[in-house]
Amino acid sequence: MTDASLVVTDLRVEFSGFVAVGGVSFDAHPGEVRFLIGPNGAGKTTCIDAITGLAKGTGSARLGEKELLGKQVHKIVRLGVGRTFQTASVFDELTVLQNLDIAAGRHRSALSLLRTRRGVDPSIEQALEETGLAGELTTPAGILSHGQKQWLEIAMLLVQDAKVLLLDEPVAGMSQDERTATGELLRRIAAKRIVLVVEHDMDFMRRYATRVTVLHQGKVLSQGTVADVQADPKVQEVYLGTADAIAVGTPNRKED
Ligand SMILES: Nc1ncnc2c1ncn2[C@@H]1O[C@H](COP(=O)(O)OP(=O)(O)OP(=O)(O)O)[C@@H](O)[C@H]1O
Ligand SMILES: [Mg+2]
Repeated sequence: MTDASLVVTDLRVEFSGFVAVGGVSFDAHPGEVRFLIGPNGAGKTTCIDAITGLAKGTGSARLGEKELLGKQVHKIVRLGVGRTFQTASVFDELTVLQNLDIAAGRHRSALSLLRTRRGVDPSIEQALEETGLAGELTTPAGILSHGQKQWLEIAMLLVQDAKVLLLDEPVAGMSQDERTATGELLRRIAAKRIVLVVEHDMDFMRRYATRVTVLHQGKVLSQGTVADVQADPKVQEVYLGTADAIAVGTPNRKED
């Protein structure tokens, strides 16, 4: 739960002289489902990497009063900033509960797993309920559906009580039903936390975004409500160069 906002100002990230993010500013507040979109290579993941300490950035990324840039990864996590990756990073051979235990910083022996849910922490219980995984406690993460794996990753962030969730393409590869369930989940989570979603799925973005920032070649191309960015000719041009492209949900995108 947080009242603080995430405010990114003039963020720049260079890789050996190549400017991946060239002065990007945006903010995200609790209560909104904030989207960051843009074509391949626009710099979306790099923004998240810089905010979470995985890439070296200049400028500023503040969570409330706290500056995140320049801090070590684990310190940023401790401030309540959590993220997911474009490819799911759960432990496939461990069960859902074991994954959540690890996220919570607990070790549970194989024997204790045989016991019932009496042993489950309230925070884990809540995260399971919230993400619809309560029935999968003892399922090895490796055999979860693609959607469930993403929800497990989100559950892991909830168990850590992340105040900021930075989600990199959470619905890529999901079925339509899983997308809808994820959108609803993000809405619920966003009521009390900061949720920033990187996505290529325009239909998903239109349904769930409260505000959108469009990146292109490391810069902010457009920013505003879904209606604002859809009506922006610059955005239409980038998305396949036709006025219809963004409206019909055809991102300029290789398939994953
Ligand atoms: N570690 C790195 N070293 C060098 N260049 C990098 C590195 N990481 C990213 N880049 C480059 O920076 C640019 C932005 O990459 P980034 O991954 O942030 O894009 P993206 O918007 O997330 O794209 P996608 O939609 O394909 O995930 C790209 O040109 C990419 O090749
Ligand atoms: Mg990316």
